[in-house]
Amino acid sequence: MKILVTGASGFLGRGLCPALRAQGHEVTELNSKNCDLTKPASLEPFSGEHYDRIFHLAAWTQAGEFCLTHPGEQWIINQQINTNVLAWWHARQPQAKLIAIGTSCAYAPGSDLREENYMAGDPIEELYTYAMTKRMLWTGLLALHKQFRSSFLYAIPSTLYGPDYHTDGRQMHFIFDLIAKILRGHYLGETVVLWGDGNQKRELIYRDDFVYHLLALADACENDLVNVGVGEEYTIRHFAELICERVGYPLSRIQFDSSRYVGAKSKCLNITKLRSILPARPQTSLEDGLTRTIEWCLETRTYERLPQS
Ligand SMILES: NC(=O)c1ccc[n+]([C@@H]2O[C@H](COP(=O)([O-])OP(=O)(O)OC[C@H]3O[C@@H](n4cnc5c(N)ncnc54)[C@H](OP(=O)(O)O)[C@@H]3O)[C@@H](O)[C@H]2O)c1
Repeated sequence: MKILVTGASGFLGRGLCPALRAQGHEVTELNSKNCDLTKPASLEPFSGEHYDRIFHLAAWTQAGEFCLTHPGEQWIINQQINTNVLAWWHARQPQAKLIAIGTSCAYAPGSDLREENYMAGDPIEELYTYAMTKRMLWTGLLALHKQFRSSFLYAIPSTLYGPDYHTDGRQMHFIFDLIAKILRGHYLGETVVLWGDGNQKRELIYRDDFVYHLLALADACENDLVNVGVGEEYTIRHFAELICERVGYPLSRIQFDSSRYVGAKSKCLNITKLRSILPARPQTSLEDGLTRTIEWCLETRTYERLPQS
């Protein structure tokens, strides 16, 4: 198949594009440098091709407090990106199936995180704008399908992790931040302070497992949204314990700062639908996934760079 991937240079795209090529597909990789999707005409140079699938991964965001401090820019940029991609798909590539990525942050805190509830209630305040742009992306897919029978899939991942994450000093997803802090404690002698009381729970999915799921769902599902997680969450304290064991750093030296922003108390996707569509799925164990991720952090020495604020 001919496949176009937006956000190909991102953490997910760097896993997806090689997997697509390994399946024998011809892949066009886009990023903000070769195709700035905030510009309405940015995709015109690609209109000459007829793509079978468009994987739309591009989004302007970071983890940590980024969404809290950039809501206005996030609204403008992500709305522009999504509108331009959907408009081009409709006008120039109506034959293509569009596969877009949602976010677990769009679910209202405290609700059952199953697909029927994706648009119900309000997302957590700190991630409100980012979450709402993802809900608008889902709304756009539904609207185009309703009027023009366009074909799509909307996949909602839990937090992705694994080797090959960013090394540019941006604000990191919690697990990379946790690993970096513990490595800094071990190798640089810094005090390790974790935000929150350690009891907030999080779910992780190994990036390459998510890629496997995404490719299988792209074949199996039509015009639907599907949660893609592992169905289990653990406390930050538990993640810290596993990392400490691997690094050789005493858990007792970690300090917890309950006054800092920690986001939702719990965030675990309901994966009943995923299980029914893909009963047999690969799942990298948390222990193996963390070991590989820590090894990658050590090889790339990412923990030595402090994140930009
Ligand atoms: N990582 C996670 O845990 C996670 C969880 C849930 C959902 N998601 C969603 O999954 C998708 C991929 O996530 P990710 O972690 O791979 O994100 P990422 O690493 O931040 O990558 C974002 C991608 O979007 C591109 N991009 C940003 N602004 C752009 C613009 N103006 N024009 C064109 N491209 C632009 C970036 O290009 P440059 O490299 O050139 O900047 C990059 O390729 C996103 O939609 C994200 O919201 C991710």
